[in-house]
Formats: sequence, structure tokens, C-alpha cells
Amino acid sequence: SITRHYTFNIEMKTVTRLCRTKSIVAVNGKFPGPRIITREGDRLVVKVINNVSNNISIHWHGVRQLQSGWADGPSYITQCPIQTKQSYVYNFTIVGQRGTLWWHAHISWLRATVYGPLIIHPMPNTSYPFPKPYKEVPILFGEWFNADPVAVISQSLQTGGGPNVSDAYSLNGLPGPLYNCSAKDTFKLKVKPGKTYMLRLINAALNDDLFFSIANHSLTVVEADAQYVKPFKTKILLISPGQTTNVLLKTKPNPPNATFFMLARPYFTGMGSFDNTTVAGILEYEQPPSASLKNRPPLKPSLPPFNATNFVANFTSKFRSLANSQFPANVPQSVDRKFFFTIGLGNRPCPKNQTCQGPNGTKFAASMSNVSMVLPTTALLQAYFFGQSNGVYTTDFPRTPLHPFNYTGTPPNTTFVMNGTKVVVLPFNTNVEVVLQGTSILGAESHPLHLHGYNFYVVGQGFGNFDPKKDPSKFNLVDPVERNTIGVPSGGWLAIRFRADNPGVWLMHCHFDVHLSWGLGMAWIVLDGKLPNQKLPPPPSDLPKC
Ligand code: C2O
Repeated sequence: SITRHYTFNIEMKTVTRLCRTKSIVAVNGKFPGPRIITREGDRLVVKVINNVSNNISIHWHGVRQLQSGWADGPSYITQCPIQTKQSYVYNFTIVGQRGTLWWHAHISWLRATVYGPLIIHPMPNTSYPFPKPYKEVPILFGEWFNADPVAVISQSLQTGGGPNVSDAYSLNGLPGPLYNCSAKDTFKLKVKPGKTYMLRLINAALNDDLFFSIANHSLTVVEADAQYVKPFKTKILLISPGQTTNVLLKTKPNPPNATFFMLARPYFTGMGSFDNTTVAGILEYEQPPSASLKNRPPLKPSLPPFNATNFVANFTSKFRSLANSQFPANVPQSVDRKFFFTIGLGNRPCPKNQTCQGPNGTKFAASMSNVSMVLPTTALLQAYFFGQSNGVYTTDFPRTPLHPFNYTGTPPNTTFVMNGTKVVVLPFNTNVEVVLQGTSILGAESHPLHLHGYNFYVVGQGFGNFDPKKDPSKFNLVDPVERNTIGVPSGGWLAIRFRADNPGVWLMHCHFDVHLSWGLGMAWIVLDGKLPNQKLPPPPSDLPKC
């Protein structure tokens, strides 16, 4: 294994999309940002230099950060943000992981433009558990705002209303021909006939789950969130913000007389408005039989309707871990601590002398177990490590909702959230089970839940209210999928298990940026174990100050 050095210069970049030219926050003048390509076992040393006026931090989404919690990146959780003209070196090793992950800014809505792939190849002399693809192609889904995304969320927080929806989706930063003046900004995949391509799909969109399909081609899913899965074929895929999926695309034996659209558009179950537009890329064969292809429109795949919840439930249930001798599923078979968290929207009163644009003149909020997460003004990890929790956080995050109600039925009388910076403290190596119960307060909605510092096993899911008497007997403890991000079904629940073997402070949150901004998150503090390799080392000397 080797050490790979990168420098990320955070700087402004001028780009034109949808006929408008604007300045965005970007890395090394690239949008989407630079690719990090590494290998299992390697060390990454990334120096991030902030040359913009916004504070920033970078999160390595899905990297386990074993004993390197100081490099995880969420602002005010594991570090204070890097201020203008300051820098910070993220230093971590890729342990026991290979596959597609990604990196993104983790403060306000800067990840709208600050994101890129993080590709981990298997160790030398190890291969994929499927035939080696002819070529590998990263495809990042993004969400484009004509306005400044930071201003969009600031305004929403101010007025209490829903933020303006995005103006386009993108494939590798390009909106494609179905948007105004964007035909020239189209992602094209040129392929040879009779080959297998591996597409490394990454959903970097801010607020939307996306359906994806390529006309006249099926896809074989082989990996999710940098974990191999039992391969399965599908024509249509769902990918939630934060998730990554590797698929194999077998091209036709002979170049067909057509080109093919690859389309993505949202799955949406919430209330209010959403960006219901479609991004298109084009799959094109080299040397098609006829030269007149140019004038023929590409073939279109069909995608489910925007609210296709049954399709989604069926699709997500197809993911199973390999669970073989080479890639075992280490699912905790017994549990030391069980948690039951609600997850959903709520609201808060409108301050006097203000008019608010949220539900019935209030402000929108979101919460877990009715606690709306307030970020501290210093980092939780620093406060914990140096024993300065006083006034920063409390350890009373509720293990079950304080006032149970019919979660997927009629909302309770008061839908106001409680503000707090509350954590759960876990002794080292605790086997944890969390049931995440979606609520229908202000409408049911699917929530892509992401856990930092860990993968978890998805042992169960269902619609309606979780039944603690009946549902656990149906849990899959044999080959559940192992992920870092999973959608809690709209109007339903999800059960996950993980072993708390990584000391540090780990954020768990909805990967819809709007919900995170409204407070849909909490944090786990995992204590040190007794052995030296079970302890979190002290922070690097350049750890940013608040
Ligand atoms: Cu990819 Cu806390 O996020």
C-alpha cells in the first residue's frame, strides 16, 4: 500500500448552464470536482485550501475512517469548518473497503457544486467477484440551481418556507438536451459493441431520489455503497442522494442503428413542489451501420411515475449482500442496545413580528424523535475529546419517542419540534439496532438516511407502523444489504444493525440537504475501547478552530 497526496484548492469558477453564466464554488477549477482514485489499504492525504469567502469542510462519504474520525469532515460535528485562506489536511487510510464512494462539501448547501468521485480499486492481485469490465465510467447525478444554493437555503430558513426547487438535474455536471439551451451540454457515453462496461453511479443531488434507465439496455447491479451485492438485473434503478451503485452494462453484439437516451428524474412522495424535470445523456455506439443516425432522435426508456412507491419498495428489497466466505456478512446476531427513532418533518412557531411561509404560517422543521438538531458553534468531536461538553451537547437523545402516536396515521396535536444538540453515547463494540420510523406529520416522505463512520445492515423494512411484536421475527440476519445510506420508506419503517467498533463522533442524518438543514439528524458518540487500536488518537495540529 502507498500514500497518495492530493491538493484541493477551493476556488470560484465561472460556468454557463441553462443559458446563464454564474460563479460557483469548485475544486481545482473543475466541476464536478476531481476524481480521487485509490486502492484498498492506501493512505490518502488531501490538503484542502480554502480560497473562497465561504467556510467549508469536505466529507469522504462512506469512508469508514477507522480511528481517523478527525478526517470525517462534517462541519461542527468532527471539525470546525476551514475558514477563508486557511487549510486542513485530511489524512486517512482505506481499510477493508473497495468500490465506488464519493466526497462532498459538508456545510450549508455547498455540496451542490463541491463534489466528486472517490474510487477504491481492490488490492493488487484481487479481483472483482464478477468478470472484469472492459471499461469503468463514473456517472455523477447532480442538481443544478440557477441561484446561489447557499442563498436558497438561507432564505428558506429565514422565511420558514420550502426552498426553491432546483432548475435542472445533471449527469457529470451536464443537464442535457431536454433543457433549454443545453443540447451542447450533454453527457455522451461512446461504447464498443459486445463489451461490458461498469457504470459507477453516484447520486450527488441535493434533495431528490432519482430513477435512472437506459433505453433498450438492462443493467446488472453488482455493488452498492462500496459493498458487493448478489448481482441482479434491472431496467430501472432508484438511487438516493448519498448512495452509490455499480452496474454492469452489456453492449449489444453488433452496433445497432440507433442511439439511446439515458434518463434520470425524481421519485417524490412529499408535499409541495419538486423539480420534476428530466436529465438526459446519450449512449452511442462506435461505427453504427448507417451514417444517417444523426437526424434520428435517440430512443427513450420509460421511467416509473414520480410517486411509484411500490416500485421503490420492490427494487430496494432486491439488494442482498454476497454473504459468502470471501465477503461474509457480519450481521450482529444479537443486540446490546435497541433504539426506536421517528424521522420526519415538523414545524416551529413563527417568531413575533415576522410572517412565515411554512405550514399555516409557521416555519418548516425536521427532526428525529422530535429533536431538531441544532449545530453547535464548536465541533462535537473536539468538545467530547477534550472533555468540554458543557454547553455544547447533552447525552439525553431519546431512545424511544417521548410521546408515542400513530406515526403513519393522524398527526399528533402538536407538530412542533424541540431544538437540541443531543447525542447517544455507546460503549465500544456495542451491537446496535435502530428502527427508524417514518412519520406522516406534514405528509409522509421517504428519507435517505446516512450514517457516518459505519456501514450498517438493513435487516428489515415495511410500510405503516413498526410492530415490535411481529416484525423482528421477519428480520433478515443472513444476507441483508450492507450500506451507508438507505431510504426509510415513505409511510413506513426501516431496521438497521451495526457494531459500534469505531470510536469517535458520528453524524446520522437525512441526506436530503433541505431536511438536514431543517434539523433531521443526530450524533452517536462511540467511546474508546481498552486496546490501543480501539482508541481515537488526538487531532492533527492543523485542526481548524471555530
Ligand atoms: Cu454524504 Cu453527512 O453526508
